[in-house]
Amino acid sequence: MTLQEFKENCAQIQREYTEKITSAADVASVEELRVAALGRKGALTELLKNLKDFSIEDKKTAGPLGNALKNTLTQAIEEKTAALQTKELNEQLNRVDLDLTLPARPVPCGKRHPLSVAQKRMTDILSKLGFTWAEGPWVEDEKHNFDMLNIPKHHPARDAQDTFFAQTGSPVSMVLRTHTSNVQSRYMEKHQPPLRIMAPGRVFRNDSLDATHSPVFHQIEGLYVDKNVSMADLKRDLSAFMKGLLGDKTEIRFRPSFFPFTEPSAEVDVKCVFCAGKGCPVCKGSGWIEMLGAGVVHPNVLKNCGIDPEKYSGYAFGMGVERLAMMMMNINDIRAFYENDLRLLNQF
Ligand code: PHE
Repeated sequence: MTLQEFKENCAQIQREYTEKITSAADVASVEELRVAALGRKGALTELLKNLKDFSIEDKKTAGPLGNALKNTLTQAIEEKTAALQTKELNEQLNRVDLDLTLPARPVPCGKRHPLSVAQKRMTDILSKLGFTWAEGPWVEDEKHNFDMLNIPKHHPARDAQDTFFAQTGSPVSMVLRTHTSNVQSRYMEKHQPPLRIMAPGRVFRNDSLDATHSPVFHQIEGLYVDKNVSMADLKRDLSAFMKGLLGDKTEIRFRPSFFPFTEPSAEVDVKCVFCAGKGCPVCKGSGWIEMLGAGVVHPNVLKNCGIDPEKYSGYAFGMGVERLAMMMMNINDIRAFYENDLRLLNQF
């Protein structure tokens, strides 16, 4: 091949492929053209094989010419490919009707149950007041649920009307604990004062389900035993607790009551948060809502647990988590906590 023929061939390839690349319709045809021109058996590749037969002089002209053509074609192919890719992407986006202004889809996310939220707020406040966590079993022997708590054998609280008896095959009579006070006996038989515990948990009573009763509900027990603990300490701590839970203006009052395991005993009322004490349907016109039972730990209970009542005294309280949660969250039916209606659960 002469140098002249080489030049003409170059010009011919340039013309042919530039035109074909320009008019290519899609990325795949551009790729075919690349292979046809620059591939291992491509037109330009084949032409360049002639270089080796040229004289040194001719090579100086032909070599750069061939290289320049190769660069020109490579660049044209890259540019055309990029342009076609953009065009194809745009067409595709138009086809799928994409609306970029639509809000993102919500990601469903689990959350705490309102009772857990309420219980956590209560235990958080109690732990700031110095109470540490304690627990006891749900299936309990009568000794810890009743006997050690000074509840006599024929006390009505032991009646099958209130208590679920559990058939465990154990020789001792077992019940589903009727209150978290079993943790008092469990804890004090193992620990000497000073002690200050809170015991949240599930309790069971043979009640039928209505707006204010449930056979399964939750309590938090509080117990503080040390030297010279009195009713005054109880009132100070419960007042601080209720203010923390329901707001600084919250007021409480003690009414005399009776529990076998405390003496003296009290029912603690909170001034109605719905009417500020004026009287409304929630507090049934009285201005106060009954919240919990409490009192000074009965000396017999200390004795039963191996604590010297001459040396130590204590207070105890037990409050219903559902009842307080209903106040905090403005829920008027206890069943709402157990129905797991997402419309309710999602609000907390
Ligand atoms: N255990 C009592 C109840 O369930 C509440 C209580 C606890 C009262 C501690 C006094 C002291 O009703």
